[in-house]
Amino acid sequence: MSLEVRNLTKRFGGLVAVNGVSFTVERGELVGLIGPNGSGKTTLFNLIAGVLKPDGGEILFDGERIDGLRPDEVFRRGVVRSFQIPRTFWHVTVAENLALPPRQQRGERPHVAPLRRLWRPQELEIARQVSELIDALKLTAVNRNWGSEISGGQMKLTEIGRSMMSEGKLVLLDEPAAGVAVPLAHEIFKHVSEVRSSKSTTFIIIEHKLDILLEYVERVLVMHEGRIIYDGDSSGAVRDQKVVEAYLGVEAS
Ligand SMILES: Nc1ncnc2c1ncn2[C@@H]1O[C@H](COP(=O)(O)OP(=O)(O)OP(=O)(O)O)[C@@H](O)[C@H]1O
Ligand SMILES: [Mg+2]
Repeated sequence: MSLEVRNLTKRFGGLVAVNGVSFTVERGELVGLIGPNGSGKTTLFNLIAGVLKPDGGEILFDGERIDGLRPDEVFRRGVVRSFQIPRTFWHVTVAENLALPPRQQRGERPHVAPLRRLWRPQELEIARQVSELIDALKLTAVNRNWGSEISGGQMKLTEIGRSMMSEGKLVLLDEPAAGVAVPLAHEIFKHVSEVRSSKSTTFIIIEHKLDILLEYVERVLVMHEGRIIYDGDSSGAVRDQKVVEAYLGVEAS
């Protein structure tokens, strides 16, 4: 098993943003996390990534508790997340933004740096992966631009690229298709599907563009007012009475 969330709760003052949430995600699953605005999706990601501390409940990753760990400790265990609002490094190029995150870059260790033959093959491999991603994400034209010079949509793509380069075991993507043209959104999801198949990476993806998301995920978790109101196959979600009512803003009876 990859991720197990047990009875997780997070309060902001009187508001219970995440309210007793439990679910498990197996290794290699590609799961959609959906729900109306303010239903607690990003808060749930922040709890898993260690950005927020839960008020109750447990999070286990690969069988070990990760709730209460710092974000860098959670990252080191293989949990990577992208942000709803992209956080691109401004003063390096797009390509360098993608080359930054891989783990254990040999050339960065002081005693190895002078010995070029030790780190050169790894650098070439990283460069190959970066160039593949730049093609897949259609960033070729801005590849050498500064992170500060590109559009919001391109920052989003750079941020997604960075998450993909991080070699996480569990990748959490917060609205990867927001602000991105429809054909490119499909490219992103196709790329995610490929990485998932080739590396058995686990993905949980928050996305409001349901018509796109539901084409690629077989399972969805639906949140409403801090609770999971549906956990099952995507085709069933759009027909589920509670889900439909949550999206229409009607009280479930
Ligand atoms: N740091 C915070 N302090 C206080 N309230 C917060 C904080 N973060 C989120 N909230 C509140 O918690 C609730 C859940 O927010 P969250 O951002 O998790 O929703 P979401 O499902 O990601 O929504 P969206 O689809 O709009 O991104 C909302 O009512 C939000 O206003
Ligand atoms: Mg959100």
